[in-house]
Amino acid sequence: MVNIALFSSFLEELAVVRLLSVLTIILGVTTSCHQESASKLKIIGGKPSAEHHPWFVQLMSDASSTEGFCGGTLVAPRVVVTAAHCVDAEYVRTLHVGLGMVDGENLHLNKPVKVEGILAHRDYDPETSKNDIAILYLADYQGVEFERPAAPLTFSRDTSSPEAEGRPVMVVGLGNATSVGDIFDGVIREVELPVLATAKCDEKYDNVDGAQICAGNWDNGGIDSCQGDSGGPMVSKDSAGSEVLVGVVSYGEGCAQKGAPGVYTRVASFAGWIDQAVETLKGHNSGQQSAGSMEKLLTTRCVSQFGYLPVENRAGEDNVRDTTYGMNLREFKLIDSDSPGLPVGTELDKCQFEDHGHAVDARWIRMSGSTGTPDSKVAVIATVTSPDGSAAKTWVSRPQRLVYLQDTLSCQSSMGQVILADQRKFTYVVYKDVFYALGEPAADPADNQTTWGCSIGDASIEVYEIGDGVTKELAARIHHRSIGTVSVKLDRIDRESDLSAGIDWESSTSGRLKIENKSTEDLFTWKLVCPVKYTMTLADGTSMSAVQESSGAGFSVLMDAALVREGTVRSGAAVDVGIKLDSPVRLSGSACVINGAIVVESTGQVAIH
Ligand code: ARG
Repeated sequence: MVNIALFSSFLEELAVVRLLSVLTIILGVTTSCHQESASKLKIIGGKPSAEHHPWFVQLMSDASSTEGFCGGTLVAPRVVVTAAHCVDAEYVRTLHVGLGMVDGENLHLNKPVKVEGILAHRDYDPETSKNDIAILYLADYQGVEFERPAAPLTFSRDTSSPEAEGRPVMVVGLGNATSVGDIFDGVIREVELPVLATAKCDEKYDNVDGAQICAGNWDNGGIDSCQGDSGGPMVSKDSAGSEVLVGVVSYGEGCAQKGAPGVYTRVASFAGWIDQAVETLKGHNSGQQSAGSMEKLLTTRCVSQFGYLPVENRAGEDNVRDTTYGMNLREFKLIDSDSPGLPVGTELDKCQFEDHGHAVDARWIRMSGSTGTPDSKVAVIATVTSPDGSAAKTWVSRPQRLVYLQDTLSCQSSMGQVILADQRKFTYVVYKDVFYALGEPAADPADNQTTWGCSIGDASIEVYEIGDGVTKELAARIHHRSIGTVSVKLDRIDRESDLSAGIDWESSTSGRLKIENKSTEDLFTWKLVCPVKYTMTLADGTSMSAVQESSGAGFSVLMDAALVREGTVRSGAAVDVGIKLDSPVRLSGSACVINGAIVVESTGQVAIH
């Protein structure tokens, strides 16, 4: 069997968002769930929500997006509670919220509602994930029709009872549904989790306090929220038995791993802040952040095109902390002060503001002569002048890699699957199972040149060779709404694959599917999609029939850890399940795929592939 590369491991490396520096890897968007971060699967070990939750919302990058990148909870008709790290700088000007959604392929059959005001907690700290909470104030949506009703959920003001240790809580989301790799299938899922003692949880993260709630299965893992669930609701029952919002999905190391529970912002600890933030956003407050409108808010927060200001000087402290809100915040880490040689390059954007009397001048530059992925070429140079007029200090920050595989587009070219990946900017391409970063601009393919590619909706990607015969390189011409139309070199990123799968055919209709997990994470929940109808037989003799994918692309079985034992493949282990086709078929050019990225190799009496 051939290994298929999964992105995951790779992602891990790239993405890692580590909370404390120690934590780990996230997929940032990248990998699946590695640490938190970055972004997005769905709920793991849960089930599709049978009931509509009228308070569950999705954050969307703009008015025309069809999928969200974070969850949220409607707590008043025009007020959404979400995570500060979800308020992505890139989207602040265009942020929309999907309400009253039906799940499925295109999440928002409804028109998303515009966000008019955003207030992320001023003390949100991307290093520690403390105060990971934000409020969105929505445009008036009277008259907008939703597919299903939208209605607010009360948030808890009681820091003790609803989320006491051992109590069951429910988390809802559209995030990644697998712990290694990527399943974002547009299905709203929910999972019931036990609340864990903060002290226990702190054994793992070393930085959890009473303003946070931890939940999960400490001993075995298997149930959790994951990338893409961030900002979404953790719900419990109050003393009267009514549902209340108690937590906001914040982070976790990996997803659903044993001894690494999910960490949630404890809403009740921020009840006063929420009340005040809502007043502020309504424009009723004349405080420092009296931002009645988005325009004003942006000015007060100093948002650059490349992120919220990455620097904020804390009064009296001689350091500048990275307090940008959202993913980009994490990408910019202040690494140096009084640097001898400041990086030079083209100025991309700038942002000037005053904080506690300190004048801050921040500039985003694209460094000249640098190599690497596009995001490594941006630096932020911030100069801070103290109120007492003492010498200005200059700080340089460089983006850290943080990539979620959240938004992936993939299609079949004549040379195999081409995947355009990265949560927001589509900065990675996977071609013939090799991961590439988008590099320098390249010449467009010539008219007579061979390209391998395909289009998905209004996006398209063509891979082609450039350079002379000796040093052939790959380039790609990509067209996508988020990046426009570009031709760039593809810089190969080598990594180990961490999942592999194959089917050994015993006859023309039956064989054994084997999945090996070589990653360091336990795999919970995986999904096999084949172009032909099939049935899987589990070790206990029960069988599961494939159901047609909603896209019509094939037939899938989701092996959920919570339901079937084979849904789990522990790190270093393999599973083996029987597979039977409805009828003998021979298809060329298309293969079975696990978690959307791992191609299943066939051996023996080949039927598929
Ligand atoms: N920060 C993640 C996101 O952006 C959520 C991570 C939750 N992780 C967990 N293991 N519970 O979607």
